[in-house]
Amino acid sequence: MKPTVSRRDVLAGSAALATVPLLGSHVHSAAIPAQELKVDANAVQWPLVGGSGPMTEVWCYGNRVPGPELRVKQGQPIRVIVRNDLPEETTVHWHGIRLPNAMDGVPGLTQKPIKPGETFTYEFTPPDAGTFWYHPHSDSLRQLGRGMAGALIVEELQPISVDRELVWMIADWRLTREAQIAPGFGSMMDAAMAGRLGNTVTINGAISNEMPVKAGERIRLRLINSALARMMALRFEGHRPVVVALDGQPCEPHVSERLLLGPAMRADLIIDMQGEPGNRYRIVDDFYPDLSYWLTELVYEAAPALRTQRLDTPALPRNPLTEPDLTSAERQELTLQGGMMSSGGMMGGMMGMGGMGNSAPWAINGTSMTGDGHAGMTPLMTLKLGRSYVFTIRNETAWWHPMHLHGHSFRVLTRNRTPVAHHQWMDTVPIAPKETAEIAFVAENPGDWMLHCHVADHQVSGMMTVLRVG
Ligand code: C2O
Ligand code: CU
Repeated sequence: MKPTVSRRDVLAGSAALATVPLLGSHVHSAAIPAQELKVDANAVQWPLVGGSGPMTEVWCYGNRVPGPELRVKQGQPIRVIVRNDLPEETTVHWHGIRLPNAMDGVPGLTQKPIKPGETFTYEFTPPDAGTFWYHPHSDSLRQLGRGMAGALIVEELQPISVDRELVWMIADWRLTREAQIAPGFGSMMDAAMAGRLGNTVTINGAISNEMPVKAGERIRLRLINSALARMMALRFEGHRPVVVALDGQPCEPHVSERLLLGPAMRADLIIDMQGEPGNRYRIVDDFYPDLSYWLTELVYEAAPALRTQRLDTPALPRNPLTEPDLTSAERQELTLQGGMMSSGGMMGGMMGMGGMGNSAPWAINGTSMTGDGHAGMTPLMTLKLGRSYVFTIRNETAWWHPMHLHGHSFRVLTRNRTPVAHHQWMDTVPIAPKETAEIAFVAENPGDWMLHCHVADHQVSGMMTVLRVG
């Protein structure tokens, strides 16, 4: 496996990279009053590594990395005109939004791909408040891996009051020594193992060394893992972040000691800055054993605390999701198959593909749908509109798979038969090697919906299927 390199290794590669701009200059995305928005996909030079380091040639939306932050109020319609200035086809998927099938952005399945020079208008009204994001669903590995992603924030009508709100789009890049995006997208090694892990993790389009905070302030931090493949487990040294939503959907507020955030997952945290004025506290990602690194550091101003009293953390208002009826739910099984047996290299061998004459490394229920979506994909099954379903998803492989269902949110009922607290609503459930998860939802949105692993290499090489509703 390509070793994960921390920011320090990248920085050590060139003295010129030693000074990196403060995170502060990248934290506030240009929030555009939504209604009508232009999202262009252009080749752009972007200061990912910062300082006087080389610029990185990226593909992105609206000439920036990440793309423009789109913000609407819950229930407010949004209209986005996408003009494709890439040398290839694209589409935009609004990850986690429950929207009409024709707006879902899956090429061939829900719309014609947007050809170079063409435009397409997406129009929908997000029913749920929360932290969502947008990304291409065409040549996903390259387009997302080269920088095409942005935040879509749907504000509650009554948000939790905080001193500041931050949105962190976290991305993981595989860069060369010259800070260019490394070639080799879609290699068999990446595809059959952990996916294209990078060597440079950025927050809002830049390596981050510090994040200035004031003692006593309350921050709402919206985290979005937009990585192609990197699973993250975040620890906030000296702090007690309270999780108030996962994948945009409110949860029972609870303190997280180590926040698991797989590709495409989001978390909304309320963090009271309880550190000492003048001190520094790291945010560490130690998901991969032996490859832990720090994402950034909370750096306290010297000024005394803004407030010293403890604040309660109220729950966010619920979204209008339909409760699945578990007693009458129809049961279905999905088995995730394939991949290398372990990280022991090619010696490990492929598993579970049972001589189907199938060259794709992954499959769901014995079938490998590959690519990003195309015309003529045969649904694995047809779900009845309005009916409740419980899906048992069995991961027979040796790898993690963050499984995403389009057009719906689902409750996670159990993991390895152990009930999940409060049956959290999610749209992307990270399933550990050999783990079985049960999810429940109402098939309430008619159309053909993708269900796939959000490790982009896994998706495009077989861990994808289509569910038809109605
Ligand atoms: Cu963000 Cu098909 O996914
Ligand atoms: Cu996967």
